[in-house]
Amino acid sequence: MKPLMPCIRIVEVLPAPADLFRAAAEEFVRVGRAAIAEHGRFTVALSGGSTPRSLYSLLANKYADFPWSQTFLFFGDERHVPPDHSDSNYRMVNEALLSKVPVPAGNVYRVPAENPDAAAVAAAYEENLRRFFQLRPDEFPRFDLILLGLGTDGHTASLFPDSAGLKEQSRLVLANWVEKFKTHRITFTFPVLNHAANVMFLACGSDKADMVRQILEGENTPPFPAQQVQPDGKLLWMLDEAASAKLSR
Ligand code: 6PG
Repeated sequence: MKPLMPCIRIVEVLPAPADLFRAAAEEFVRVGRAAIAEHGRFTVALSGGSTPRSLYSLLANKYADFPWSQTFLFFGDERHVPPDHSDSNYRMVNEALLSKVPVPAGNVYRVPAENPDAAAVAAAYEENLRRFFQLRPDEFPRFDLILLGLGTDGHTASLFPDSAGLKEQSRLVLANWVEKFKTHRITFTFPVLNHAANVMFLACGSDKADMVRQILEGENTPPFPAQQVQPDGKLLWMLDEAASAKLSR
């Protein structure tokens, strides 16, 4: 299938985490307002982990007047736990953002991870995406924005090195077995990530510096999962000074 448009990669380095979250919030709002102006709604997939929590809090505190009623929120990945569990990405996002902004409950597409059958969870969430985006069987959704993080092992969403999910080219959502955690993670597949109009990676802290250099400048065989994110659109890496410290200037 011919790419929708070439991948445009931009790397932005901000002095400190607070600057990174401010710039990321401005980008979220810019992309959101442009999408709503262009097609009446903003579709965004949120990332989990610890890094984006400050972005979500800033959006809640500074952008309550954002058009949340025209914003549709999904999750790029989720841990296989109930929504009130301390590991739940939904719980983190709900505490930092959803419970604080006027987004209609019907606009929030939580991963039903309380179901003990991980494969059934992935199938149900895939069905949600297919219905929401009104996809034909061979079609992939084009999110306006997908937020992603970076693990120190090069994983993103829940696409971990050496995991089966790396090879998936037709499903939208997978229950991906993660050997090191001995559990399944529910995750978008690469085709969904690479069909997005905008992908924004957030990485901060010196512990990410090695992997950031590998991802942005390294020739790795096989490539790290985060290196395989090459969307048909804008690929924005937002880094703080510490995470960018090993990049060649
Ligand atoms: C998750 C994430 C995962 C995360 C990275 C980075 O559910 O954990 O989606 O991909 O983005 O593990 O996590 P930190 O931000 O906590 O370093």
